[in-house]
Amino acid sequence: MQKTTLGADTQRVDGRDKVVGAAIYGNDRKLPRMAYAVPVVATIGKGRIVRIDTEVAARTPGVLLVLTHLDMDRLKPISFSFAGGQAIQGMMPMQSAEIAYRGQAIALVVAQTLEAAAEGAGLVAATYEEEAFSVQLDAPGREEISQNEKTQYFKDIVHGDADRAMAAAPIVLDRTYFSSPQHQNPMELLSTVAEWRRGRLFIHEGTQAAQAVRQGLAIALDIPAERIRVISPYVGGAFGQRGSISPHTVFAAVAARRIGRPVKLTVPRSQIFHATSFRAATQQRIRIGTNAEGLILSGIHEVRAQTSRFDLMPYTGQETTGRMYGWKDFRGSTQLVKLDTQTPGFMRAPMEMASFFALESAIDELAIQHRMDPVAFRLKNDATPDPISGKPFSSRRLKDCLTRGAELFGWEHRSAEPGSMRDADGTLIGWGVAVGAYPGYICPALAIVRMDRAGAVSVSVGGHEMGQGIRTAIAVVAADELGVDPEKVTIVIGDTTVPPQHTTAGSWGAATAAPPVQQAARQLRSRLVEMAGKRRGGPLFGHDLSSLTLADGHITGSGGRSESVESVLKAAKLDHVEAQAQASVPGLRPTALQEAAVGKIAFAGPEFPDWVTFSFIAHFVEVRLDPRIPRPRVTRVVSVVDCGQVISSRTAHSQVYGGVVWGIGAALTEASEVDSRFGGFLNNNIAEYQIAVNADVRQIDVEFIKGTDSAFNTVGAKGVGEVACVGAAAAIANAVHHATGKRVRTLPIRVEDLLV
Ligand code: MOS
Repeated sequence: MQKTTLGADTQRVDGRDKVVGAAIYGNDRKLPRMAYAVPVVATIGKGRIVRIDTEVAARTPGVLLVLTHLDMDRLKPISFSFAGGQAIQGMMPMQSAEIAYRGQAIALVVAQTLEAAAEGAGLVAATYEEEAFSVQLDAPGREEISQNEKTQYFKDIVHGDADRAMAAAPIVLDRTYFSSPQHQNPMELLSTVAEWRRGRLFIHEGTQAAQAVRQGLAIALDIPAERIRVISPYVGGAFGQRGSISPHTVFAAVAARRIGRPVKLTVPRSQIFHATSFRAATQQRIRIGTNAEGLILSGIHEVRAQTSRFDLMPYTGQETTGRMYGWKDFRGSTQLVKLDTQTPGFMRAPMEMASFFALESAIDELAIQHRMDPVAFRLKNDATPDPISGKPFSSRRLKDCLTRGAELFGWEHRSAEPGSMRDADGTLIGWGVAVGAYPGYICPALAIVRMDRAGAVSVSVGGHEMGQGIRTAIAVVAADELGVDPEKVTIVIGDTTVPPQHTTAGSWGAATAAPPVQQAARQLRSRLVEMAGKRRGGPLFGHDLSSLTLADGHITGSGGRSESVESVLKAAKLDHVEAQAQASVPGLRPTALQEAAVGKIAFAGPEFPDWVTFSFIAHFVEVRLDPRIPRPRVTRVVSVVDCGQVISSRTAHSQVYGGVVWGIGAALTEASEVDSRFGGFLNNNIAEYQIAVNADVRQIDVEFIKGTDSAFNTVGAKGVGEVACVGAAAAIANAVHHATGKRVRTLPIRVEDLLV
């Protein structure tokens, strides 16, 4: 048996199943009589369909159904998630002739086989009337609005009078940074298997939001949610792409109902770039005022971020950047730029990745201006308490991250002058540092823990396994409390038949699921112990209850007397014992669990009534490049993290490795290319959209600062998945500057930026 405690290097509980192919993903489902659906997408940037010819497609052998806006079901609108609804965007394609953006679905071909559906899809012919469109932040025809005025989310952050303070500051740095749109590109394709059985709808889909998918379908199809079950035990990566219901899910359900057969709709990789959300392009102007000694006095962070014409996707980098340094005055505001694309959304550290590229590049520039070491500059200006609210941080070990990281990396051997470190063969070496933070969010969750006579444990709670390791985290917590092997804990998550499946995102998964699981497990243990200790005639009768322990299916008292769970339950005439708990989350609306149960976004944080919570990280990066072919290689990274109590060391490490790899991609390769002549995203495949691969990744060392966060939740864990990639791109950009003397303020950094 694998013994475990919180923070141990426990094996992934689903590792074996994944390796041998026993873990069934949504897209793995194969049902009897299943048909296949392939969408057809618009090939213009904007306009309307004048004519759509489906006759040839419909005559293709094997084709069962072709749907267009002319004969698609009229669906009830599902509101956008940030407009109080469940949808990835408020606009549902195929409801009218209007084309809002390139890549929008215009038809769906359903056939006996995937091949026939693809062939049919290639034969749908549309003629359009084109309209002018805008796809770039500075394009004519764009519309700009103030987020503060037009949405209820993420209001401007204002503390003191930053504009006046900036005017009075002896030294002011004023820089503008840019980031490209990006796409999440999880390995598992976006897909849905929809099946109707006697008026009930079953959906197999890799989602982060089973409840939103269920409720969204109930709204769109106008049927009771109780008749829909969404099943998503594993997700092959999500990264924010699957936090709401996407149009393809609704199409699959409609098609399955029309033909009376199960339908699998797998969105081709090339269509995914337009089928759901993406990371918005941004422009970020940072102003920081200091005194002559390098003390930060004031900060202004102004963002312009893209959204669609029909939804206001809020942006909030400043929520986090504002908490980093000890400014007395700070202002953060966002302008939303309406463009002709689908609605952007979340992608790992959705706003923080680009915001911290901006902030932490600016901090590097400022440290250089003050002739200070960038680590020392950050330590000098570290903020505590929270500069915005004045409240304490529930935990903040950022200084420890910086000093420990510097030590592990060997930062003291750095020579400050750009271009001053080289290999014998002339290769330029650059060392850069940057920090990151991510808000501590928490959602309402209910956990049910059960132990049967054989001592087997099952747990159900809100959460989705996207590869981040939430099953392992849940198993570790339950196993730790109940003295069982974590691999023997059966976990049911991502399924709408068990407690509310809140959207699992925002790095709130573990901090949301672990505390109620721990509490329910403790209650369960107390009940068993009480049953054993109070049962007349039992071997443990009369024992002090607090001295009884539970492990390996036995309750044991001092002096070695013990009784099996089986005998305790038999004597009580029970098959199993069960406990249920809901962790309390200060500052969370009392209705939040009901909202989560209908797929709405309901979370608390990072500001709580008595404290604020953030996870923190420091990244130290080495890049090397040949000065004649200036293509930076990230050769070494040290990342030190403050995420409170680590629950599963192995999966937490993996999250940070992954986050750093994402930072490498963001810094050096990943951009969804936009062309004002065509609209949409041009490099819509993973051959041309360059994610970091093994050859781009060398040595990454990860360490966690010890300590818990007992204010944030009873387990003491903060989030780790997203903070991992916050600041990583900035550390790489700072290392590139140190190697070359070139300051690149647009992501990704390209070879051409470093030529001459
Ligand atoms: Mo995460 S990008 O909030 O799913």
